[in-house]
Parts: sequence; C-alpha cells; structure tokens
Amino acid sequence: MKNIPFFNYPALFEQRKDEYLNIVQDVLSRGAYIMQQDLIDFENDLAKYLGVKHAIGVADGTMALLTSLMAAGIGEGDEVIVPSHTFIASAAAIHHSGAKPILADCQEDHLIDPDSIAKLITSKTKAIMPVQLNGRVANMDAINKIAVEHNLIIIEDSCQALGAKYKDQFAGTFGLTGAFSFFPAKTLGCFGDGGAVVTNNDEVADKIRMIRDHGRDPIDGNVKMYGFNSRLDNLQAAVLGLKLKYYDEDIVRRRQIATLYHLHLRAIEQVLLPPAPDSEVDHFDVFQNYEIEAHDRDKLREFLSKAGVGTILQWGGSAIHQYSELGFNSDLRYTEEMTKKFILLPLHAMLSDEDVVYICQKINEFYCSTK
Ligand SMILES: Cc1ncc(COP(=O)(O)O)c(C=O)c1O
Repeated sequence: MKNIPFFNYPALFEQRKDEYLNIVQDVLSRGAYIMQQDLIDFENDLAKYLGVKHAIGVADGTMALLTSLMAAGIGEGDEVIVPSHTFIASAAAIHHSGAKPILADCQEDHLIDPDSIAKLITSKTKAIMPVQLNGRVANMDAINKIAVEHNLIIIEDSCQALGAKYKDQFAGTFGLTGAFSFFPAKTLGCFGDGGAVVTNNDEVADKIRMIRDHGRDPIDGNVKMYGFNSRLDNLQAAVLGLKLKYYDEDIVRRRQIATLYHLHLRAIEQVLLPPAPDSEVDHFDVFQNYEIEAHDRDKLREFLSKAGVGTILQWGGSAIHQYSELGFNSDLRYTEEMTKKFILLPLHAMLSDEDVVYICQKINEFYCSTK
C-alpha cells in the first residue's frame, strides 16, 4: 500500500535543501533579523512579479487583511461582505477592525457568488472582501460592477491565490489592497508564518508600513499612530525571495497535477471537480488546493485513508456561518450543501504522477464498489 500524506513538508525541504541552508547560514552570519535588506529585496521582487507599486511584508495573511482594513479606514459601524466558505481569519480580521462581517454564499466553483453579494448590501456596507479561494480568482467583473455602483472598497483576500489571474490580471491587484499568506502549505510558503499586502495606493502603503511597525514612520522613526508588531521576519523574506524565483515552475507542476486529476476523475458522476486548467479563457488557476465535491464524502475519506491517502476538509469541515458560537444566522444554500460534500485531495509540487493516478484509481474503485 502507498503512503501519500496530504502534505509533505520534509519532501519539499529536501527538494532545495542546500539552497535553503545556504540562505539560513548567510542571513544568520550577517545577523540580519528584522527589517533588513532581504525583506526590502523580497518586497521589491513580489511587487515586480505582480506589477504593483507596493508590496509590504507583514507577519501573516491575517495581519495582511487587518492592516489593509485599518489603512482603508474601515471600522466601527461598517459592514464588510465576505464569503462564508473561507478561513475564519478573513472574518476575524473584519471583526478586529471594528466592522461587522456579513457572510455571502458561494457558487459552483466555490468562490463568492456576486448575486449573493448584491442581496447583502445595506447603508452600512463599506467594503467587499472577495476570497480568491483554492488558487482561483472570483468573477471580478461582476464584483467590481457592484463595488462601483455602491461606492464600496474592495479588499482582496488573495491568501490562497498568488499568481492566479482573471482576464490576465493577477489576484491581489483588483482591490484597494490584496492580502497574501506565506503559511508553509501555501503555494509560496515560508518556514513559519508570513504575509504581505500589495497595493497601488501610496497613502495606504505608507499607513500599512507604519501599522506593521508600532505606528512608526519608516523615514524618521517617529510614532504617528498606534500600530502592531507585525513585520515579516527578514529570514523568512530571504527564503521567500529564493522560492519566488522558482514560483512559476511550481505553478506549472500544480497545474499538471490538476490536469491529471481531471482526466482520471471526470467520468465519475458522483464527484464535482474544479474547472480544469485552460478550460476557461478568463481564468488562470494556480491550484492552491484541489477541492472537489464528493457524494458519500465521509465514507470516501475513510476508504482513501485505509488506502494510505491523506485528505483534508477545509476549515475543519465547516463554513463560517456554521460555527454556532459566532452567532451567525445566515441562509446560504449553496455553501450549506457544499460543506456536506467538500474534500481536498493532495496537491503539492512533490506529488508524482504515479501518486495522482493511484489516488484516482482508489476513488474510482470506491464509487464502483458503492454502485
Ligand atoms: C483564505 C485565507 N484567508 C486568510 C488566511 C490567513 O493567513 P495566515 O494563516 O497566514 O494568517 C488564510 C491562510 O491560512 C487563508 O487560506
């Protein structure tokens, strides 16, 4: 029997071990820990990659969202529309800004449904936070149209979508800001927590640079506001700088794996697959995750686990409106049904074609045996 864990950190480390160790040695021998040249270099490289004016490294994706909301002036009395099918961090950032998260439904591709957004707008709505989930960009034409009509700010949660595009435009570059996470399992992951905000707005960029560093002005060091200690570590930035050089190669591999899954699973009528790479002209997906909807999901999970294949349910299997302690009372039809069926199959750069074919064989076997 094979053993295919959902994620494989040691294999990813081995892939470029010598280069990582060289970086660690170099940074440590220079004693370059906080806000040093490696951070500046990575920020410049990331801004260049995405074609934006500013990239600002922060502690993690959650702080990328919170500092974005604060810099955009969103706070008490405001409502921000966000999908329920996202990590709790998206809604938590809105909550901690002082605003209220309002949860929207998703659609068949598991991203925010623009029709659901339109129904939730009130006089208090200040912003929309589309979540570019699973390495795919939402329908930004429709979302922009709503934002323009109602004078709303867009803060993109692009934590799962570095490099993904909609109509040739990168995730994170549609809104006032785009937030990225470099959590280790992300398509661009570091060796711990990390994040960044990107923006073309000089004023917002200046504010975020202050908020991440105790409210201090980066030029004169004077405190101009209350901030946080939320800087991206220089060592992590140095690692990310190296990984960014290989990023496009890693994305090619992710898309190959998604293509293989598609080829081997598309005939099974009990599963709903994400759109295949290159199947839609408007979308370039980077497959942070391969999230399917599967009939008899829990039994399939158990079957795969016995066959040595690790799977995961995003957010522990619940959308945000289903966390009863948070007190949401939302009627989100698609999300409600989808959470009974959603499951992530393994997808990372070190997965072999043979592994993917084995996983697909097992899924085919499972549905043949339940017929
Ligand atoms: C959609 C989404 N939003 C926000 C975050 C928060 O990022 P982080 O874990 O880096 O704080 C994540 C990452 O886990 C995420 O997947």
